[in-house]
Amino acid sequence: MRSAGIVGLGMAVPQRVLTNADLEKMVDTSDQWILERTGIRERRVAGEDETSSTLGAAAAREALESAGLDPLDVDLIVCATTSPDMLFPSTACLVQHQLGCVRAAAFDLSAACSGFAYGLAVTSQLVASGAFRNALLIGVDVLTKFLDWTDRSTCVLFGDGAGAVVLAPVESGRGLLGFDLGADGSGADLLTIPGGAGKHPISEESLREKLRYIRMDGQQVFRFAVRVMGESAARAVEKCGLTPDDVDWFVPHQANIRIIDSATRRLGIDPARVYVNVDRYGNTSAASIPIALYEAYHSGCLKEDDTVVTVGFGAGLTWASCVLVWTMPPAGRQNRQSAAAAEGVGAR
Ligand code: UT7
Repeated sequence: MRSAGIVGLGMAVPQRVLTNADLEKMVDTSDQWILERTGIRERRVAGEDETSSTLGAAAAREALESAGLDPLDVDLIVCATTSPDMLFPSTACLVQHQLGCVRAAAFDLSAACSGFAYGLAVTSQLVASGAFRNALLIGVDVLTKFLDWTDRSTCVLFGDGAGAVVLAPVESGRGLLGFDLGADGSGADLLTIPGGAGKHPISEESLREKLRYIRMDGQQVFRFAVRVMGESAARAVEKCGLTPDDVDWFVPHQANIRIIDSATRRLGIDPARVYVNVDRYGNTSAASIPIALYEAYHSGCLKEDDTVVTVGFGAGLTWASCVLVWTMPPAGRQNRQSAAAAEGVGAR
């Protein structure tokens, strides 16, 4: 089997910024509490016309451009989201239409905040096996549309955004080296939007009981996250025959700085090698890892041949870690090489 790697990157966030000071005027909270307990300073909030498909398509457009790939040459679109435009059709199909990727197969992947890392593992296999020449993987969520703005225990945590990558065959030994995926459905109630689907359809009663909003047992999810992030990332690194010393960049799901710090300690990674942007976006769920990868790359932190570990955790409960060797040359030089990789090798 060949390897698959990232050859294009894009991101999109809403214009509207909501600061901790803004939240102080909405609920009984303080900038100090939010900053100390989560590390978040501000987050982006989608407008009425901004949805998972529009933000996802914007991020995907930039990813295709940076890969030098024409929409007509896209073989597969996978969209990791838990805040789709509708129950069905899939957000991936809506993105396919918005981009004009008429030859692409398209489906959604539901693994909450672990969705992008799950998607990276699954989609890379489909490209590496030769089943698809290339794939567009999008991580997007607009969870602010599912927040109870009177519940201070959840409404200060989340933000909206999208990140996208183009995956294509790369030299063996580069791209995705390995992964660790897991789930524990016994924790389903710990983080959930219970209403609006089959179990609690929209009704006067379900609206009154606020079932269409995010419910979370924060402390339990915190404990789970701290344990699973370190364990899963360590397993993925070990499966690749590597040690934490071989890791150039740790790019974790951005939910809470205390969770990131604790996982970093457990893994034994130098904190200077951890990419953090939770302060500016809050928890953007499936979008947080691709947005962090995008910023790490464009700020010059992430360089070609660096070994990167990503790890996500979230509702399900789910977790996912990926180890990859970064395959994109410095920004500005990527188009020609990426286009050749994305179009040239193999056929469906
Ligand atoms: O992608 C996965 C998504 N979820 C997560 O990653 C969440 C994981 N959990 C967490 O990040 C943390 O548990 C939270 C940030 C949600 C909460 O932090 P905590 O340190 O676990 O706080 P707590 O729930 O133990 O609450 C401590 C106090 C409580 O007051 P009392 O009972 O001690 O008087 C809360 O009522 O803080 C209070 N509190 C707040 N105070 C001001 C809870 N939310 C707020 C708030 N502002 N926004």
